[in-house]
Amino acid sequence: LPIGADRVNEQPQIRPAVDNDTAAIRTIAVATGLFAADELEGFDERLTGYLDGTLAEDAWLVLESGTGEVVGAAYYAPEPFSDRVWNLFFIGVMPDDQGGGAGGALIRHIETALREKGEDHARVLIVETSGLDNFTLTREFYAKHGYDEEAHIRQFYGPDDDKVTFWKSLVG
Ligand SMILES: CC(C)(COP(=O)(O)OP(=O)(O)OC[C@H]1O[C@@H](n2cnc3c(N)ncnc32)[C@H](O)[C@@H]1OP(=O)(O)O)[C@@H](O)C(=O)NCCC(=O)NCCS
Repeated sequence: LPIGADRVNEQPQIRPAVDNDTAAIRTIAVATGLFAADELEGFDERLTGYLDGTLAEDAWLVLESGTGEVVGAAYYAPEPFSDRVWNLFFIGVMPDDQGGGAGGALIRHIETALREKGEDHARVLIVETSGLDNFTLTREFYAKHGYDEEAHIRQFYGPDDDKVTFWKSLVG
């Protein structure tokens, strides 16, 4: 039996990322088109800081498909210089697995984890994405999960690429 074949019918599972997930997470970052392979420096810095415990409040999650393969990942952390605002800095699902509910499971998991921290630690979750046409489905994804389109920062990601910030209350 191939390794993992006994797991084929298991349910997808979300768990904290560990050292061994680094390659899969980087693959997702690049395969989703969110990062170029040579632009992963800042991304790696955050991931390493989480794995070695330096960035103790940060959280990286992975989603394993029923076959035990890591097909989704997310990273969220407190927003500096804010009052109990958290930022979902990264969420990605491998292209072949998109539209199958993995992203939704990840974002619900994150909201639940932040709500469980209580209002003293987490009041608001924001998530930022591009205003370009090829991110229309992404913006719809956040809207479907109850995020308000809160702000546009013009030219943020490039001369023709605005940043759109989505906002959701974690309280009440
Ligand atoms: C955005 C993303 C995380 C959503 O995860 P997902 O597993 O594809 O989404 P789900 O299956 O849980 O939800 C599907 C819904 O999200 C939206 N959606 C977003 N991207 C989609 C895609 N590539 N394919 C299908 N639906 C998509 C649709 O509105 C869909 O609604 P529907 O089910 O009513 O048709 C994922 O598609 C992705 O990684 N996209 C590319 C990278 C990206 O944009 N990341 C966010 C950067 S800020």
